[in-house]
Amino acid sequence: MDKVQEPFFLPAPGVLNMVFGKPTRAMTHEELHARMKQFPKVDLHRHLEGCISPETLLYIAKTFGGALPSYELDQLKPLIQAPHDTPGFYNFLEKFKVFRGFYPNREAIEHVAHTAVKEAAEDNVKYLELRYSPSHFAGGGKFPERDVTEWIHQAIQRAAAEFDIIVTPILTISRDYGLELAAATVDLAIELPTGYFYGLDIAGNEIQNSARPFADLFARAKDAGLNLTIHAGEARGAYNVREAVSEFNADRIGHGVRAIEDPEVMELLKEKDVMLEVCLTSNVHTGIVPAVKNHPIQKLIENGVAVSLNTDDPAISDICLSDEYVLAVTELGFSDADLKALNLSALKHSFAPDREALIREIGGCWNHF
Ligand code: HPA
Ligand code: ZN
Repeated sequence: MDKVQEPFFLPAPGVLNMVFGKPTRAMTHEELHARMKQFPKVDLHRHLEGCISPETLLYIAKTFGGALPSYELDQLKPLIQAPHDTPGFYNFLEKFKVFRGFYPNREAIEHVAHTAVKEAAEDNVKYLELRYSPSHFAGGGKFPERDVTEWIHQAIQRAAAEFDIIVTPILTISRDYGLELAAATVDLAIELPTGYFYGLDIAGNEIQNSARPFADLFARAKDAGLNLTIHAGEARGAYNVREAVSEFNADRIGHGVRAIEDPEVMELLKEKDVMLEVCLTSNVHTGIVPAVKNHPIQKLIENGVAVSLNTDDPAISDICLSDEYVLAVTELGFSDADLKALNLSALKHSFAPDREALIREIGGCWNHF
């Protein structure tokens, strides 16, 4: 058993008092947030499509063009941000439709990718797996997907070097736009030189569109050396998690939290060491859990399931990863040691081309926490 560290919140409230760098009084929310921002973090599940803040979107529209349903911040926010809406899976997915087809030119797409990486680095994310769908940015044939991929790839690499963050790109296909489009994108990813994509993800509407028709694509991607992560067990139950692991050979599961409904599925995840990419606030916004305090993450850990803490869509949910760490502490009782363990486990389950090198490079950054 790992040594359990002091919790952040000790019974006596009052002014923060540090003894040998450890808090001995309850922290205020601001102090805890500052500490969580300082804490080095790993994010394995973040969609580029969900990283574009209302302010960035307006900036793009004003600078480069592009049609929006509103150019007023107050009116735009409820159309693209989940906290302004009733929680629900459909309501959440609806937000992405404002973005799809919006991008007017190459500069706008590069700006989005560059800003996403910059904002992650500013939140002290040390290692980021950033997933995106070239089809989403290509706007239904406005730009060739090959070009879009090149622009995003270059912008990510530039920003990663500039802001000192390691980024591993993952290809996302959608269940919602047909097998033909998804197959063409997977073919493109397989033909690209090494370095463009290290994994394949499938996202979209799990209720209406099964992942089954895409099974051949998962197999081809795996044969070509891509890792697999599948959105499953979010809007649908544990059965979909079992299918993703047993039939599609997923290395990780996007969300997967409804594995909690079936002990056999949790056992399968444990046995195969398949990590669940947990996104707390996203699960509230999609209506999967009523509140973060009801989230099953602790029970999943108790059952031996590997989990990590991620954002999903920071701009849609209006959060950063530090916010999620604050919630993990205040709503779920995570300690420093728990958070450190989750991060090290995330590195171990990463899709980085050289996992050992990644661990050597940043695995020590939690030592002083
Ligand atoms: N589920 C399915 N598709 C998505 C999600 C999600 O949580 N986020 C972005 N695309
Ligand atoms: Zn997701």
